[in-house]
Amino acid sequence: MDNTNNVSNINKKKIILSGIQPSGNLNIGTYFGAIKNWVNLQNDYINYFCVVDMHAITVRQEPAQLRRRSLEVAATYIACGIDPGICTLFIQSHVPAHAQLSWVLSCYSMFGELSRMTQFKEKSEQHTDNINAGLFTYPVLMAADILIYNAHLVPVGADQKQHLELARDIAVRFNSVYGDVFTIPEPYIPKDGAKIYSLQEPDKKMSKSDSANENSSVFIMDKKDDIIRKFKRAVTDSEAEVRFAGGKDGINNLMSIYSCATGKNFDETEKEFAGRGYGDFKLAVGEAVAEVLAPIQKRFYELMDNKDVLEKILRDGADKAAYAANKTLSKVYKKIGFLQI
Ligand code: TRP
Repeated sequence: MDNTNNVSNINKKKIILSGIQPSGNLNIGTYFGAIKNWVNLQNDYINYFCVVDMHAITVRQEPAQLRRRSLEVAATYIACGIDPGICTLFIQSHVPAHAQLSWVLSCYSMFGELSRMTQFKEKSEQHTDNINAGLFTYPVLMAADILIYNAHLVPVGADQKQHLELARDIAVRFNSVYGDVFTIPEPYIPKDGAKIYSLQEPDKKMSKSDSANENSSVFIMDKKDDIIRKFKRAVTDSEAEVRFAGGKDGINNLMSIYSCATGKNFDETEKEFAGRGYGDFKLAVGEAVAEVLAPIQKRFYELMDNKDVLEKILRDGADKAAYAANKTLSKVYKKIGFLQI
């Protein structure tokens, strides 16, 4: 990088990118753990938020459902407070440069390192009938998503950290051959980003699919009655004390959720529910969550009723994203020796 570049980069906002797969219904774990943090960050960064539909097809999707969910995830981003006036919001498959860069990067990714990805190993065990090459090269496409915008920061959950490390390794490898082409991205694990667990098996992450047990996950679009019911049935322990402690995974999880929904810390919650049973507490958590979700749901349904507006936002987002992505792609094509005419 030359000096003029260095100077012009001072005071420049950093770039953030993240994405969610439209492969299930979004739950409160995704809201409290991811989207809510993006909303808090959006004023301080240049933001790219995408719906990663191309990643979703690494496992079989029903086409009509994938289409619907892609739009729903985009609407959910906005309903949760992502401002399309500040952020570039788009659907991954609308920006072909991701796939184009992914091919190039796959030639700079090693079979051995991809074989070591824990998510690949897990997913190939879950989908033994469909261990496709896309499942294997999934992290390369993710690296392309990130590197094509020269993202500095990538907010991800702990389960994606290994993929981010790989994206860094690919970027470093490419740069060592061709010079400073890619920004080396950093994972961004927000300080107040909470990890939300299943209400039925509180040692497991709250899942996007409702197939397992319908009381395990609270979805962003759940109706109030369902939310209350799910919290009422949440697995706790044989004590009756609302207290954050070892061996109390269920209560700890409910306390985290309560804290996300109300802003109250654990001390305050322990005091508030001292001498009261779990029943009271579960009801309070359910009501607090329902209250947070109500305005999000309202905005979501308004957006889904105005598909033209939503589609225009996504078209504009894809245009803006493509402009930035194509710049990086041209640079890469030139560096590796693709003929320019
Ligand atoms: N793999 C991520 C997940 O399942 C989704 C994703 C795809 C992503 N591309 C990304 C996340 C780029 C952050 C940045 O959670």
